[in-house]
Amino acid sequence: MNTAKVISARDLVKVYRRGSEEVRAVDGVSFEAGAGEMVAIIGPSGSGKTTLLNMIGCLDNPSSGSLSVGGRQVFGGQKELSERELTVIRRELFGYVFQKFYLIPTLTVEENILLPGAFYRAPAARQARDVMALLGIEQRRSHLPGQLSGGEMQRVAVARALINNPKVLLADEPTGSLDSRRTGEIKEILRGLTKQGITVVMVTHNLELARSADRLLEIRDGKIHA
Ligand SMILES: Nc1ncnc2c1ncn2[C@@H]1O[C@H](COP(=O)(O)OP(=O)(O)OP(=O)(O)O)[C@@H](O)[C@H]1O
Ligand SMILES: [Mg+2]
Repeated sequence: MNTAKVISARDLVKVYRRGSEEVRAVDGVSFEAGAGEMVAIIGPSGSGKTTLLNMIGCLDNPSSGSLSVGGRQVFGGQKELSERELTVIRRELFGYVFQKFYLIPTLTVEENILLPGAFYRAPAARQARDVMALLGIEQRRSHLPGQLSGGEMQRVAVARALINNPKVLLADEPTGSLDSRRTGEIKEILRGLTKQGITVVMVTHNLELARSADRLLEIRDGKIHA
């Protein structure tokens, strides 16, 4: 059995420069997550949560530190990965739920969900049906995003993140605009994913959701506090 951690981050640092000012958005974060583990990241606005999630998801490169995902050293190793190699890791390992949903307004719910697969293989209509059923949005498949409630959009964003069978689901505020019943539903869905061995790393302001995680990382000023 491969016991290697799915995510292993060491001393991740991200420095942004704004004119002469330096912002250490993430300031030396280390953590690990195994298969089927759920990690919640909490912390005040501007504390570096999205920046950290983007680095873990290989969408943004750290200023320093090392990261391996799925047993591959992505940052901080002997050799830098090519953009092509990073692209493969992004699409095969990760599903992303962004803080803003980024649904394409001119595509239907079903087309939005099929989008991640469309770039490199035939869209899997059956799989789209499965994830729509899982998220309870089958009835909305032909709607445009503009015709959905905030909660429905959020569920479409989760469905889209699952279409490529990711090993890791990264979710930035997956229940941001949901009421407590819908939040509970998303919590159960995420828990179900971990039972299938999917690692979930999420940013949330929702304490109920955060407490349901296996591990809680509290971030303040780019550093882990608990
Ligand atoms: N592209 C960027 N250029 C410059 N500064 C940035 C950039 N992205 C983020 N920052 C800064 O880095 C810090 C952390 O931002 P980040 O978006 O990670 O916070 P957050 O914890 O996700 O906040 P929120 O809860 O509001 O989403 C903030 O001070 C932010 O202004
Ligand atoms: Mg954020």
